[in-house]
Amino acid sequence: MKRIGVLTSGGDSPGMNAAVRAVVRKAIYHNVEVYGIYHGYAGLISGHIEKLELGSVGDIIHRGGTKLYTARCPEFKTLEGQMKGIEQLKKFGIEGIVVIGGDGSYQGAKKLTEHGFPCVGVPGTIDNDIPGTDFTIGFDTALNTVIDAIDKIRDTATSHERTYVIEVMGRHAGDIALWTGLSGGAETILIPEANYDMEDVVARLKRGHERGKKHSIIIVAEGVGSASDVSKQIEEATNLETRVTVLGHVQRGGSPSAFDRVLASRLGARAVELLLEGKGGRCVGIQSNQIVDHDIIEALAQKHTIDLSMYQLSQELSI
Ligand code: F6P
Repeated sequence: MKRIGVLTSGGDSPGMNAAVRAVVRKAIYHNVEVYGIYHGYAGLISGHIEKLELGSVGDIIHRGGTKLYTARCPEFKTLEGQMKGIEQLKKFGIEGIVVIGGDGSYQGAKKLTEHGFPCVGVPGTIDNDIPGTDFTIGFDTALNTVIDAIDKIRDTATSHERTYVIEVMGRHAGDIALWTGLSGGAETILIPEANYDMEDVVARLKRGHERGKKHSIIIVAEGVGSASDVSKQIEEATNLETRVTVLGHVQRGGSPSAFDRVLASRLGARAVELLLEGKGGRCVGIQSNQIVDHDIIEALAQKHTIDLSMYQLSQELSI
């Protein structure tokens, strides 16, 4: 393989730039040309594709967002869109691509694989919901952003003796809620992977209050529902003064943590190696601190799971 492409797609995540840099530098190290495909699959379809040099990825390792821009592209879900994309790849002489993104991006990579085009998926999303890896690029940074917010909210929650319901992202996954709830000392964590009973949530709050605990933090994963609905139910069932914070897209920004930069560098470089070894249709990940790769179609058939022992622990520590 003498020329490869790289794109970022779906919701951006901190560390995507570090992954792009790793792909470009690793390819050039092996005397392979790299083309950047801008705006994800939308740029693939429209041919917004440019050659990247060593210097093109200078000064980006520490920046959030993605230098290649990103997009959600419904057109690439159609056969016609996929064919247009493959035509562009042929036109530019690109023989394989690295796709950096989350679930939707992997679905696009799966389609390219099914059409016989070599591609490797690199997990980039704050949601940590991609099969075949323990961690996705951006998850760690998002956790630290959320923890920073929880710590600040705790200061005011304590001062005003209020209950705060904080909604975090994660799409259908509860990883961000679980990890930040546990590390932020939340009284209650609501995640889509575990059933909960509002009566239990209320009883737990009342028990704490009776014990003299006048403030509480409740973390709600967006996949469960809205924080304001949870807050209303709490206020109806108790006399506790409650406030809501929806953290939103602040969770997607910021300079990537050291962990995410290292992860992105390792995964981006491995993706290039796989293409050069002639192994398309793969996705890379980290499992037990080893860089691994899996068949992308088989990986996508797996269901994302969460470590429920951590959820149990969070309940035991917040009695
Ligand atoms: O997948 C990342 C993510 O931030 C999810 O946590 C969230 O549900 C979604 O993207 C929001 O998407 P958008 O930025 O398109 O509103």
